Amino acid sequence: MTTSDPLSGHTRSAIDIRCLRVDYGEFTAVDDFTLSVPQGEIFGLVGPNGAGKTSLFKVITSLMEPTYGEVLLDGVDVFEDTESVRRIIGYMPDLAPVPTDLRVWEFLDFHAAAYGLGSGAQRRSRVEECLAEVDLTPQRNSWCKALSRGQTQRAVLAKTMLHRPRVLILDEPASGLDPLARRDLRNALRALTRAGATVFVSSHILGELAEMCSSLCVMNCGQLLASGTADQVRHQLGNTGRTIVASLLGRHEEAVAWLTGQSWVHDPRMNGGHVLFGFDGGDDAQANLMESLIGNGFRLRAFEEKRSSFEEILVEVAETNRQT
Ligand SMILES: Nc1ncnc2c1ncn2[C@@H]1O[C@H](COP(=O)(O)OP(=O)(O)OP(=O)(O)O)[C@@H](O)[C@H]1O
Ligand SMILES: [Mg+2]
Repeated sequence: MTTSDPLSGHTRSAIDIRCLRVDYGEFTAVDDFTLSVPQGEIFGLVGPNGAGKTSLFKVITSLMEPTYGEVLLDGVDVFEDTESVRRIIGYMPDLAPVPTDLRVWEFLDFHAAAYGLGSGAQRRSRVEECLAEVDLTPQRNSWCKALSRGQTQRAVLAKTMLHRPRVLILDEPASGLDPLARRDLRNALRALTRAGATVFVSSHILGELAEMCSSLCVMNCGQLLASGTADQVRHQLGNTGRTIVASLLGRHEEAVAWLTGQSWVHDPRMNGGHVLFGFDGGDDAQANLMESLIGNGFRLRAFEEKRSSFEEILVEVAETNRQT
């Protein structure tokens, strides 16, 4: 659900990050980062280890002051009105600690009391609701220390949802979850956005996010590289070319040598029983290339076009940044 500003008619941003910079001494972890996350979205933040995701989240959630820059949550300045902001957000840190000496329902009830969520009965009912949301009702009486990793993640998510936050910041919530638990997480997040919340969720594994996000952004070395839908991000990262897999009956090395001199072809190489190469030409040029390949006596069994997977593009981006 997206909300429009009745005066301007524009979709309002739940999170507005402007020119944010975070330094740890001499080291810049987040660099000139500007991003708007629209209300009601599940918005993904993808980046490799050390990209700056957790640093960014700590600033958004008011746990750390930036070197400079501005963050607005639901229009409220995070550093000017920290008290209000903490009521708006629910933050699930990566590796969130859980107490060992409380039962699961007690852990949630303790936090519900800290949030001031009403009298005993009201509070208990909210605790049970959140346990049910993350499918943890059967474990309500278990000791927290007896939970598996995935169950612990869910208990922490339930805790994060208790006070019905309008903006949820979740740092790697899917790490350690099996496919079924990831599906449950996705459903729980969708239910939250249907109820009007906005979710900003990070992962270094794109597949995890692609399953659950409507839009996403990519960061590396502290910088925002791209944002939008998966296709828009792919385009912004400059990966619109295609990879072609030619399956030949023999003469692979000769084919690689022959392809090396052809227009639009780059980086031809052998891969098992196939020859792989990048191709930047149009459809006509591709048809001509196929004809010439056959015309030159290569026995072509199949000619398949594939776009790089998103994961491959990200690896390429991370490697390029590492080298520069
Ligand atoms: N307290 C700190 N002091 C100094 N450097 C830090 C500190 N916290 C993080 N960094 C550095 O800032 C960079 C970004 O770290 P951050 O934890 O934000 O990355 P991340 O994207 O969350 O990585 P991961 O996927 O591993 O969780 C890293 O190079 C890290 O070493
Ligand atoms: Mg992190």
